[in-house]
This record gives sequence, C-alpha cells and structure tokens, in this order.
Amino acid sequence: MSVKEQLITEKLPRHVAVIMDGNGRWARQRGTARVFGHKNGVKAVREVTEAAAELGIDYLTLYAFSTENWNRPKNEVDALMSLLVSTIASETKTLMKNNVKLFSIGCKESLPNNVQEKLASCMKQTSTNTGLTLVLALSYSSRWEIIQAVKNLAGDVKKGDVDISDIDSNLFSGYMETRNMPDPELLIRTSGEFRISNFLLWQIAYSELYFSDVLWPDFRKEHFYEALLDFQNRERRFGKTSDQLILNK
Ligand code: IPE
Ligand code: IPE
Ligand code: MG
Repeated sequence: MSVKEQLITEKLPRHVAVIMDGNGRWARQRGTARVFGHKNGVKAVREVTEAAAELGIDYLTLYAFSTENWNRPKNEVDALMSLLVSTIASETKTLMKNNVKLFSIGCKESLPNNVQEKLASCMKQTSTNTGLTLVLALSYSSRWEIIQAVKNLAGDVKKGDVDISDIDSNLFSGYMETRNMPDPELLIRTSGEFRISNFLLWQIAYSELYFSDVLWPDFRKEHFYEALLDFQNRERRFGKTSDQLILNK
C-alpha cells in the first residue's frame, strides 16, 4: 500500500503549517546562487498545496518570509519579493482550478506595493473558492503578531468594549491574524533544523511537530503524505493519560 493509501481520511488534520526551509543550502549544493533555491522552492509549494487540496485539508499555512528575513542581503530580499509577485500571478489560474482560496498573515504594509497589489487581487479573485485555504505568512513573526494583538486588545479594553474579566484564550485568539482558523494540528519543518523561528508560537501550543531532513525544493507530495501518516500514528493526549483516551473520559 502506498503511503497515501494508508492515510485515514477521518484522522487528517484540518490545519497544517509548514516552515519551508533549506532553499539556500539546496542552491549551494549545486554551486548556484541562493535565489536559484528559492525559485526551485515554488515547485514544492505547488505540490504541497495540490496534495492538501486533494486530501480535503481545510488550511495550509506556509511560512514564506519572516520579519527577520528582512535582514538578509538586499539582493536576496528583492529577488524573493519579485518571485512572490511572479508566482502569485502565474499560480492564480491553478488556485482557481483547484478551488483554493488565498489568504495571508503578517505585516502587509511592510511589503512592496506591487506585492501588496498582487496579493490583494489574487485574494479577491479566489475569495469565493470553497476548498483549501492557502495561507501565506509574509513579513510574519509570531512576536509581532502577539504584540499587535495585545495592542488591539488593550485599545478595546480602554474603549470599554472588552471587560478585563472576559479575557481568556478564546477571546485572545480572536485578536490574532489566524482568527477564524483552527490551530494547526501539525507543524512541519524541512531541512533538518529543529527550531520554530518565531512562527505561530501561540497557535502551536498543542501541535504535533514533524521535522524532515529534506530540503524544501526537494519536498514532494510523498514527503507530505509521510508527515501526515506519522501524525496519524501519534497519540494526542492534551494532558490526559493514555487510559483516559482509550476509555474516552
Ligand atoms: C527558506 O530557505 C526560505 C526563506 C527563509 C525565505 P532558506 O533561504 O532559509 O534556506 P537555508 O536555510 O539558507 O538553506
Ligand atoms: C524561517 O526560516 C523562515 C521561513 C521559512 C520563511 P529561516 O531560515 O529564516 O530561519 P532561521 O533564521 O534559520 O531560524
Ligand atoms: Mg533557512
């Protein structure tokens, strides 16, 4: 049986988040510029998006550019921004065909105008699609998101719209960029790095973490299925004991 055939549809996560890492090393292994790795990472994005859509997963969040990535050399940042524009433009047709809705999280205002425009137009065009929601984390970092949430919440408390005694994790989640989405049940990071790099810190409180040695440009549907199968074999206890889960109490 193939890995895909072993997957149990009822046990699939609703939301998968991915830290797409290893483009630079992939390029270096080939003696090419880092940008070449980013360009080849687009194929992996296409594969994983298509796989998630086919399986009926509701949300796929891809970490495409972090707040900290602004500190990379200007030529790399510029190349990544151009790649974003050209990829969104060329992929919109496929998103439509696969019934995928595009969404983004992160500090949109810090993105170049042409990126903001392309993103807005693709989001608008795909807004009535009802399949997978593809969420691009762009100029995103979790601490930035949490600070924004705290500022907005403090503002609402000050205005008298929120009572301090009503603040709980549910209410706070509603101030995050990911409001209206379930927390990711599974977080994948490629390229053999074992860290979170400021990604969805609040939302991954109980996510299953999966680390793959594969460099992002080499990541294919089969690797995605392997991560999902591994996830399905985990016991998610949420603080309870195994016995409680078995007895369902
Ligand atoms: C991930 O690949 C893509 C981005 C962070 C934009 P990297 O560019 O981080 O690749 P490595 O980690 O240097 O190999
Ligand atoms: C994390 O990768 C950000 C993205 C995948 C967009 P990095 O390659 O920037 O992370 P660090 O700096 O190695 O932790
Ligand atoms: Mg990296």
